[in-house]
Amino acid sequence: MGIGDLLRSATIQKLAQDALMRMDAETAHRATINALKFGLAPSGAPSQENLATRFCGLDLPNPIGMAPGFDKNAEVFGPLAKAGFGFVEVGTVTPRPQQGNPTPRVFRIPDALGVVNRLGFNNEGHEAAFERLKDRTPGQTVGVNIGANKDSEDFVADYVAGVKTFSPLADYLTANVSSPNTPGLRNLQAEDALRRLLAALVETRATQPRQTSILLKIAPDLDETEMDSIARTVLESGIDGLIVSNTTISRDAVAGLENAEETGGLSGRPLFNLATRRLAQMRLRLGPDFPLIGVGGIHSAQSAIAKFEAGANVVQLYSALVYGGLEMIEEIKSGLSHAVIERRLANVSGLTGVAVKDWAEGRITL
Ligand SMILES: Cc1cc2nc3c(=O)[nH]c(=O)nc-3n(C[C@H](O)[C@H](O)[C@H](O)COP(=O)(O)O)c2cc1C
Repeated sequence: MGIGDLLRSATIQKLAQDALMRMDAETAHRATINALKFGLAPSGAPSQENLATRFCGLDLPNPIGMAPGFDKNAEVFGPLAKAGFGFVEVGTVTPRPQQGNPTPRVFRIPDALGVVNRLGFNNEGHEAAFERLKDRTPGQTVGVNIGANKDSEDFVADYVAGVKTFSPLADYLTANVSSPNTPGLRNLQAEDALRRLLAALVETRATQPRQTSILLKIAPDLDETEMDSIARTVLESGIDGLIVSNTTISRDAVAGLENAEETGGLSGRPLFNLATRRLAQMRLRLGPDFPLIGVGGIHSAQSAIAKFEAGANVVQLYSALVYGGLEMIEEIKSGLSHAVIERRLANVSGLTGVAVKDWAEGRITL
């Protein structure tokens, strides 16, 4: 066994995970990015054939994506794909580099397997991400999540710049209007503001040589009227898909626990029921054929299966890796593949939406 194989072995991975859990959350994140850059990622097994799927015109080996926020600067999308993800969403990137909020700004809620972050779009800006993405290996599916600088005088112009910069080389683009950590950003979800934003993005795309899919990522903290207005606006706009959801500002699921009162967005297991209900509610509003990514609180094969049943075409995760490491991906892929076989379905897409009403009406929780 060579040193690389040794470092990638299950025992070492477990030791590494234990060491990461003793570090502060942001330091552990940086250490993981560096390990991935040095080629220390576990190599995922080839994806089971019944997990292959098509989403927004993209052929994916499996429907499990890396959610944005982990690879903000497009440094490790290759190793993440090698570790088993079917697609990777990098970002959020803003036109100009920015520092984000003062540290500490990422907190674990270990008793609930939750995470709170108030990073505030710390990133190296469009140019740095563009340089890393431009020579990527064909076959890796990479979405680019675009946002606005905190001190921008025109948020819409920042998203438009994102479409111009990344539509030549991204497999899809996500307009992130749902981070709670940039003051005013979530106001872009209001009907008039959202209509203007999406019109500007679709018009800008029409001027580009390549018509890259545009998705919108929304918050889970929305009432029925707000969901109605977003669904209406999205369907009228000509964008290609929706991502439900970003982190929540609610603390109902973690009340009284260590770090629960830290300001920021809550993710991980305590987000699962809220984000999955919102996903199902949006699926009912958008109809069975509208492309939907389900994200928020996936922490096991069972919870990934539930996301599909609530209406997702593909899913993403992030916080589960903080507690379970990259090996989680294989566990989830294998559980998902078994569910497809047990239910005698041809493919993972057969799971989509089978329990959408029960999830939308709150009759199922995990
Ligand atoms: C530390 C951290 C940073 C994040 N940064 C971003 C980001 O830059 N852009 C974004 O759209 N979502 C970001 N997210 C949200 C995730 O992409 C995802 O929507 C959310 O965490 C719910 O999924 P999870 O429960 O599997 O983590 C971040 C999440 C975490 C935990």
